[in-house]
Amino acid sequence: MFNQRIKIKELLAQEPQGQEVTVMGWVRTFRNNQFIALNDGSTNQHLQVVVPLGKFDDSLIKRITTSASLRVKGKIEPSLGKGQKMDLVAETIDVLGDSDPEKYPLQPKKHSLEFLREKAHLRFRTNTFGSVFRIRHALAFAVHKFFNDRGFVYMHTPIITASDAEGAGEMFKVTTLPLDGTAPKNEDGSVNYREDFFERPTNLTVSGQLEGELSAMGFGDIYTFGPTFRAENSNTARHLAEFWMIEPEMAFYDLEDNANLAEAFIKYLVQYVMDNNKDDLEFLAGRLADEEKQLPQAERSEMGLVEKLEFVLNNQFERITYTEAYDILKNSKQNKKKKFQYEITDWGMDFQSEHERYLVEKHFKKPVIITDYPAAIKSFYMRMNDDGKTVAAMDILAPGIGEIVGGSQREERLDKLIERMKAMNIPEKEMWWYIDIRRFGTVPHAGFGLGFERMVQFVTGMNNIRDVIAFPRTPGNAEF
Ligand code: 4AD
Ligand code: MG
Repeated sequence: MFNQRIKIKELLAQEPQGQEVTVMGWVRTFRNNQFIALNDGSTNQHLQVVVPLGKFDDSLIKRITTSASLRVKGKIEPSLGKGQKMDLVAETIDVLGDSDPEKYPLQPKKHSLEFLREKAHLRFRTNTFGSVFRIRHALAFAVHKFFNDRGFVYMHTPIITASDAEGAGEMFKVTTLPLDGTAPKNEDGSVNYREDFFERPTNLTVSGQLEGELSAMGFGDIYTFGPTFRAENSNTARHLAEFWMIEPEMAFYDLEDNANLAEAFIKYLVQYVMDNNKDDLEFLAGRLADEEKQLPQAERSEMGLVEKLEFVLNNQFERITYTEAYDILKNSKQNKKKKFQYEITDWGMDFQSEHERYLVEKHFKKPVIITDYPAAIKSFYMRMNDDGKTVAAMDILAPGIGEIVGGSQREERLDKLIERMKAMNIPEKEMWWYIDIRRFGTVPHAGFGLGFERMVQFVTGMNNIRDVIAFPRTPGNAEF
């Protein structure tokens, strides 16, 4: 058996008392031919391996280079040096994989995040990405724990679908037909999808919601957690073409129930990381503080990362309607002085991210839930309010992020749903099942989608969404 190692995190939690251990990991640094900082990904704290002078051949010592992988056996002793409580005094060292120091791209110095994106296959070996991805993992685990503890059923909704859940039309096509012009054609020259694999046009899903709703009509409370795809050409620090979304869907819920759950969920995730990832969070807080020192005073955050998270836990999210938000924005100094790139003019217009950020960061200075948007700018499935103008929608906006959650109460009334589908040109024929479920025991129900990467950004303080997903898919980029 090869794997008889102890992980460094577990080891560092013990007291040094001469115990015999085996560790495996990658060399971060090797000082004075004597001190190896070894990391195995379990924590950002390196284990100091002491190489007794003269004990090993020079030929072996030469192979202990940055990022070489090692197996070290030895005894754990209290450290004589400062900065760590224990040393591993090496008795045997095996180099499992050499790493040419001339060629290894990540020298032991600070690299820019942009540079590391191009070396995404190696960036897991940096402290920043170590912390980010351990927190990402913790958040994913907490998502399941939150819903499992509340009796929700985890549904795996399809990745390939024939419907456009958001009615937004920015989808990646899925086909096995040739793209060189030889695909079978209809008489009018269009591609004959009846000859395609699924005998119809299909695409990668933009959301699991519609299928989620069907299952909520049997289980009551469900959630999905999976990848979703959007072919929107948005080259921003908040958009990915492939991102993960959590979509709970609850029968017997109205919009207020929905907002309550979403707020409790976000707070739970934040609390989970505060309780379980203290070291990583503190590391990232320090990183962010350093980064902000480079910024002009006016652009710096008022709060540090941990402070910000505590603030979110200890304060209720602000809840306002679209109309209230519209009034605040319209009457803001910012708008009157024409400082917004997009001026707030008429009721009914959609907010841009500059408006959302104004509300969250300048006006309320905390997360905001905006409800009851104009029907025309929201999806067909949202429940029409009694005013006939607005729908029971909600967006949650987070400081530094903007929209982190989108959700709504769903239109459960058959006639109203059909009316709205007609008005929005949603093909009723293809969506027959979505309509049909309203014929058999329809109930008030609601749900929302949390963008997982935006949540990871919020908790880690990482500015660019490309740095919180292992291998980002963005316009012009599908490397790795
Ligand atoms: O607001 P959206 O489009 O809502 C839906 O998809 C609904 N079906 C959700 C539901 O009610 N079940 O997306 C939900 C969230 C957004 O608030 C945002 O956090 C995230 O998904 N999101 C993205 N994240 C990264 N890159 C993108 N291109 C994203 N588009 C949306
Ligand atoms: Mg949205």
